[in-house]
Amino acid sequence: MKKFLALALTAAMTMTMLTACGSSEPASAEETEAATEETTEAVEETTEAEESTEAPAEETAEAATSEALADGVLTVGTNAEFPPFEYVGDDGEPDGFDMALVKAIGEKLGVEVQIENMEFASLVSSIGSKIDIAAAGMTVTDERKETVDFTNSYYEAVQYVILPADSEIATADDLKDKAIGVQLGTTGDFIAEELTSNVSQYNKAVDAVNDLVNGRVDLVIIDKNPALVFENKFEGQVVAVDGAQFGFEPEEYAIALPKGDTALADQINAAIDELKADGTFDELVKTYIEAE
Ligand code: ARG
Repeated sequence: MKKFLALALTAAMTMTMLTACGSSEPASAEETEAATEETTEAVEETTEAEESTEAPAEETAEAATSEALADGVLTVGTNAEFPPFEYVGDDGEPDGFDMALVKAIGEKLGVEVQIENMEFASLVSSIGSKIDIAAAGMTVTDERKETVDFTNSYYEAVQYVILPADSEIATADDLKDKAIGVQLGTTGDFIAEELTSNVSQYNKAVDAVNDLVNGRVDLVIIDKNPALVFENKFEGQVVAVDGAQFGFEPEEYAIALPKGDTALADQINAAIDELKADGTFDELVKTYIEAE
C-alpha cells in the first residue's frame, strides 16, 4: 500500500512539474493549482496510511493491507494428500479445489501465489513464518483458533467412515475398541483418539486406506469428499459411510492465517465474496468437487 501511494505521489508531482514547465505554452495558473491540490491530497493520504499502520486493527478496516502481501507474494501452505481439495497433479505440482481457489484469490488481490506442500500437522505452526496462510481443507476448531485466525468458511464437511466392503460396523457403539486409521493431526484423528487408544496415524491419508485394505486397521476416519474419492479409487474393496450415522458433527473449512491479521482476513474474505458473486467459486466446485 505504501508503495502504491508513493507512486501516486510521484506521479502527481511529475504532473505538477510537467504542467508548470510545459514546453510549448506556460501552464495556466488554474492547471498548476489543480495539480498542486492533487499533490497535497496524495500527501495527506500517505500520512493517513502511515498513521493507520500503527492504529489498532478496528480502525484500519478501510485502508489496511496486510504485511503478508507487502512483498507481492502470498505463500500458501497445503498438504497435497487430500483429494479433491489438494493432491499432486500429473505435472508434479499441487492441484485441487483449494489450490484453484487460492490462485483465484491471489489474482483478485494482485499477488503471486506460491504453494508450499508440507505435512498437514505442520501447517498451523508454520503460519506467519514459513507460510502466510494455509489452505488445506482445514476445519475451523477452537483449538486451532488459539494459534491462528480463520477466514469465513467456504465449505461444509463432515467426517466419514471408510470400511472394508464386508464390514459389519454400522453404529457409534461398533466403533469402540476398533483399530482406527487417520491422517495425523486431522479432526478425524481427534475423533478417533476419543474413541480408542488404538489409533494409527499416517502422514498420507491414502496410506491409511491402504492399511484398511490390507486389514491392518478396521476403519478409517476422514473427511467426506476424500472418503468418496478413496471409495472410488478402491472400488469394491471399501465403502464410505456418512459420519452423521455415527453422530459426527458437521465441520466448516476455512483458510487459516496469522492471528490478529484482520487486514488479511478482510482482503481474502472480500476476494472470496467476489469469486462467489462472479460465479468462479461455483465453477471450481463443479470442476473439482462435483466431477468426482
Ligand atoms: N478437515 C480435516 C482437518 O482440518 C482434515 C484436513 C486434511 N487436509 C489435508 N490437506 N490433508 O483436520
